[in-house]
Amino acid sequence: MTHDLILFNIGQLLLPETNGKPLKGEDMNRLRVLNNAAIAVKDGLVSWIGSTEEAERLLANEKRNVKGKVVSPGLVDPHTHLVFAGSRENELAMKQAGVSYLEILAKGGGILSTVHATKNASAKELFDKAAFHFERMISFGVTAIEAKSGYGLDHETELKQLRVIEQLHKNYPIRLVPTFLGPHAVPAEYKGKEDLFLEKMIQLLDVIKEEKLAQFADIFCETGVFTIDQSRQYMMKAKEKGFGLKIHADEIDTLGGTELAVSLGSASADHLVAASDEGIACLAESDTVAVLLPGTTFYLGKDHYARARKMMDEGAAVALATDFNPGSCVTENLQMIMSLAALKLKMTAEEIWNAVTVNAAHAIGLGGKAGIMAVGKQADFVIWDVPNYQYIPYHFGVNHAESVYTEGKKRWE
Ligand code: NIG
Ligand code: FE
Repeated sequence: MTHDLILFNIGQLLLPETNGKPLKGEDMNRLRVLNNAAIAVKDGLVSWIGSTEEAERLLANEKRNVKGKVVSPGLVDPHTHLVFAGSRENELAMKQAGVSYLEILAKGGGILSTVHATKNASAKELFDKAAFHFERMISFGVTAIEAKSGYGLDHETELKQLRVIEQLHKNYPIRLVPTFLGPHAVPAEYKGKEDLFLEKMIQLLDVIKEEKLAQFADIFCETGVFTIDQSRQYMMKAKEKGFGLKIHADEIDTLGGTELAVSLGSASADHLVAASDEGIACLAESDTVAVLLPGTTFYLGKDHYARARKMMDEGAAVALATDFNPGSCVTENLQMIMSLAALKLKMTAEEIWNAVTVNAAHAIGLGGKAGIMAVGKQADFVIWDVPNYQYIPYHFGVNHAESVYTEGKKRWE
């Protein structure tokens, strides 16, 4: 057989392994690495993996010498708020003056100011802006991305956002998983009438299901936003309607969103900075992935990060994401998050790589499809201009991706 492409002289080929489930606890420290390796691609799939020496005997239309660099599966970013209008640089000065994230929101700013801008933007404007950020994410080595709505808080604007995500998916050869986050904040006109607002969002779930506009349903369970009981009620309805579940849980206050996520069989529980010991024990007993967002803690200027070490030591599955959004974490750079995970979450390089590949994929329903490198799987991979895989968390704030491939074709370099 003649392969379409062979990469050879790969200094380190990263082969994160999964047994069909997220990697939990100490298994997260296992990362298979092949030295002086080669891979072949045919018809968009990985067709062969072996040594550079063996690759010399294979036929291919194109052979690329990687010159000792690192090759990994494409990264997976399992939590982003990709589609929105406007920006909120004014909040940086407010934060410096000591105004908290929830105080800004309570004053009608924060998420609500982005909602205002997003309502006023056309679908074309939203698409162009989202495409700009999306392309930047890809340039950082990400080939599968979750994208949430949540800056509409009404039927029309939420659907407008979800349709932009659908359009992006059609226009880019990148895996994109849509999540409906209608209950992201309480609109001013529904203050004190949160249950009524949730009713509206639950009705909208039917339209979204019908039009296949989202795979997951998410909610912001937080003081001053939605309570545990409201979150439970909404998530149960979403589950009945066939949505996978996610939750913004225990980010600022310990409300028990982590336990709620596990009890409902959620694919992921996200943030978890304030998750209790009980919440962490629940996670460890489950396959719910803890999606940690250290970029958000960093950007909010907090000193206390999610207790990733305790989570993994107790046996939980941890993934990492950017949380890219215009307020609490303004970066598309998942590599920067890998550095924060090393420095602030004290994760090992092996845990970090598993957290941005196999476990991130499981968090968005792509377990065994994305974040892996194996014969027969889609050929989504990144060539990294680094001497070894530990180098990426170590050298922070820059882009180490040299070229990014999906389905065996170069999409960015
Ligand atoms: O995950 N915490 C709630 N939602 C987002 C922030 C959204 C925003 O500030 O615009 C988050 O951090
Ligand atoms: Fe978020």
